[in-house]
Amino acid sequence: MPFVITRPSFTGDPYRPRYHFLPPAGWMNDPNGVIEIDGRYHLFYQNNPAAPVWGNIHWGHAVSGDLVHWQDQPIALAPDTSGLDEGGVWSGCAVRHGDEVMLIYTGGTGKFTQDGVANGLRNMPICAALGEPGLQTWRKLPDNPLIPALPDEGDIVGVRDPVVWREGDRWRMTIGAGLRGRGGAVLLYDSDDLHRWHYAGLLHHDNVGLLWECPQLLTFDDERAALLVSVWHPPQRSYTGYYSGIYRHGKFEPRFFELLELENAALYAPQATRDARGRWLMWGWIREERSLDESLATGWSGVMSLPRVVTMDADGHLRQQPAPEVSTLRQSAALPVNPARDADGYNLLGQYASQTLEIVAEFTCAGTPGQVELELRMLPGGEERLTIAYDWARGRLQIGRGQSSLSTSDEADRADLTGALNLAAGEALKLHIYVDHSVVEVFANEGLVCAATRIYPTHNSGIALGWQGTPNVMLRFAHVWNLDAT
Ligand code: FRU
Repeated sequence: MPFVITRPSFTGDPYRPRYHFLPPAGWMNDPNGVIEIDGRYHLFYQNNPAAPVWGNIHWGHAVSGDLVHWQDQPIALAPDTSGLDEGGVWSGCAVRHGDEVMLIYTGGTGKFTQDGVANGLRNMPICAALGEPGLQTWRKLPDNPLIPALPDEGDIVGVRDPVVWREGDRWRMTIGAGLRGRGGAVLLYDSDDLHRWHYAGLLHHDNVGLLWECPQLLTFDDERAALLVSVWHPPQRSYTGYYSGIYRHGKFEPRFFELLELENAALYAPQATRDARGRWLMWGWIREERSLDESLATGWSGVMSLPRVVTMDADGHLRQQPAPEVSTLRQSAALPVNPARDADGYNLLGQYASQTLEIVAEFTCAGTPGQVELELRMLPGGEERLTIAYDWARGRLQIGRGQSSLSTSDEADRADLTGALNLAAGEALKLHIYVDHSVVEVFANEGLVCAATRIYPTHNSGIALGWQGTPNVMLRFAHVWNLDAT
């Protein structure tokens, strides 16, 4: 009997994204094991299929040939009732070796510790499973765990989230960790055969956070590299950043640290894969910000970002841009832009009976540094709005969420998201925005600054798009597409 997954109907839910990836139901957090195999992209993810809350963590699995349409696959990994992953199958990666595909993951358990003391966070076993032909079923290895003991690095707060890659004639693995009193760390291991691993030292550590989750080294030309880290330091909100630097032969020299998105934006625990075309394709978890009651009532929580192509620019900054494949979702095209302004300087570009839009707009500013604000007003009414503003004098991009919903029940952070976007005098502001019901992803100036955020407006019948700015700001063009949401 083939395994059939039916997606319950969420059509009445105004907040459920339509073209972003979500599991059939329940909870989702990190992307895991993203990999392209024979022209098909595999996306595994942290999933509680039974409820929209974290816990009972499985690896969900979906496959796509085009990066935008996904077919659900059977659950790849489920926690055992007792054993190395009885507390959940936590994050990890996928790796291909000849005909074999191996998932390498973190066992959520309190049972396996070096000193026999149950301590679920400190020593989580790194385990593996092999795919059966067809990659529909996965067999956990009898020689789990792959790493039998913690390395001698003082007091380790915890370890988790392996990522494996091929380098020259060997395999390398990074694992996220925390060193008590010394912040987050990345452990480096080597192997000849993916089964026996040798500790090769700390790839990097820094007094930032308590533990680094889901670290991943992205290498570019000329030994330049970015070490992605998801900084965990409860009770503060976790966030994602990267160290930009140089990587050679197992050694990483960081040059600077930077946030991956605007401060307080929603993307977390990203994972990337180098596809057959040599691109780094990255996905991240966009967290839910509704109340627990609302999530329980609707039956789902968490959404995957669009696939982002990650590159490094000449200054060592990461650029993130939506994968070009996403543009295949474009349907009805742009409205012509009306350059006339109304009396109060507000320029209505169009009204769209849709919550699934892609917007590309460019503004220029002549003479003295000006300001511009693009507004997405929620219809009907328009009192609820999201604004994206830029100030050429201050070099700051600001996403205004203060008026994004009249609701008082969601837990969405309404503080503005702001950050530096330094444009040269006369350089155009280029905005690329995706709206998918409660998810908004913003990319500015070829992905130099990005932010994913959640909004839960009470009015959901469409969006009016307009802008206002100082008199010396001109709209160069705006294209708006309705995206295929099926
Ligand atoms: C990141 C994370 C990982 C862990 C997984 C558990 O969001 O906490 O460190 O492996 O989620 O679901």
